[in-house]
Amino acid sequence: MNAPVQLLNTKITSSDLAAVDRPIDEARGMPNPAYTDQQCFEFERDYILAKNWTAVGFVDQLDHDMVRPLDFMGLPILLTRSKDGELKVFHNVCSHRGMKLVDEERKTTGLIVCPYHSWTYSVQGELKATPHIGGVGVHTVQGFNCENRGLKEIRSHIWLGIVFINLNGNAPAFDEDAKVAMERAKSLMGEAGETALRAPASNGSLIMEVECNWKLAVENYLEAYHLPFIHPDLNSYSPLSEHSCEIHGEKTAGQLTTTFDPKLDSENPLPMFPQWDPERIRNGDYPVVYPNLLLGFQANHIFAMIIHPLTPTRSREELAIFYVGKGASDPVFDEARKANLKDWSAVFSEDIGPCERMQIGRQSPGYSGGSFSPKLDVCSHHFHKWIARQYIDNASGVFDSEL
Ligand code: FES
Ligand SMILES: [Fe+2]
Repeated sequence: MNAPVQLLNTKITSSDLAAVDRPIDEARGMPNPAYTDQQCFEFERDYILAKNWTAVGFVDQLDHDMVRPLDFMGLPILLTRSKDGELKVFHNVCSHRGMKLVDEERKTTGLIVCPYHSWTYSVQGELKATPHIGGVGVHTVQGFNCENRGLKEIRSHIWLGIVFINLNGNAPAFDEDAKVAMERAKSLMGEAGETALRAPASNGSLIMEVECNWKLAVENYLEAYHLPFIHPDLNSYSPLSEHSCEIHGEKTAGQLTTTFDPKLDSENPLPMFPQWDPERIRNGDYPVVYPNLLLGFQANHIFAMIIHPLTPTRSREELAIFYVGKGASDPVFDEARKANLKDWSAVFSEDIGPCERMQIGRQSPGYSGGSFSPKLDVCSHHFHKWIARQYIDNASGVFDSEL
């Protein structure tokens, strides 16, 4: 490692990153600019989220023939669904003069018309019409090939009803890249678990905006240390002492509890995964799939929370709960689903204040990186190390440094 090098204007140095990679009892966390600085935000977009498989939404948010624009850390992208239900993701830019194509979620007839000069695309991305391109009333022009001028597709994949994108197109195949997380999910829900998952028509989702950098929301989920202080109710039946930190793989880590309450003694208990291990009926498993997906597995439901980075200091948290088979739709479980969403909403709402106050703390010249509990911050440190590694591996040629 060379002498400390300042990376552009960010004040992140190679020694800051080396400090993150030390043994946990002497390690520092990522320095303040990683949480506050626009250049760092864009670096993370281009070299962390774009290079990995990043969660951007849920399939069920999009009916057939719907289009849904999204802001991906400043880049316009577009989710489309055909009348057959096929989902694709594109750059949301017209190939004529580069106008942002779609600016609100809407139903289509299977076609998307650019508002500027009416070039028309199918929801599968093909360029179908170029009115007046050859002069008034002439809709073709020699040498112009529509086949090469469709929408630019972004590599995408669906798992557990979650839409992932790999914006730069070079990540390993999703099944390989997320193998550890997929195996973990299968070991909990059973082979047939994924196909049994259903999204309820109501009381199954939640969106919250948080004034913090996306990584703080992830880090907060990676530790149960704060449980007795921030979630006293949850801690009363699922105490910190019954949680453990589990490192599953290079990009997956999280908490495990053995005292989740699936409310089996209620009047209409929600149906459970048929293959869930009866010995582990009270287990709750909470892995983070890096970079931005928080998962929760319980015997009778799972949830997924996507952390959408909006700006260096603002994020949107989008939660979806999935139930087992009729657990999602049978009216007999309406109350159970309502109560379940209420419970998780309470827990996630309690986390907002601490995340926002950590964000404020990152403006302070009296703090940069902090320190970790060698016992209770193991997963948080694992995530910090992964982030630092992405900076180190990608800084060459991006930042004028000798990392
Ligand atoms: S910019 Fe879209 S048709 Fe011209
Ligand atoms: Fe929490």
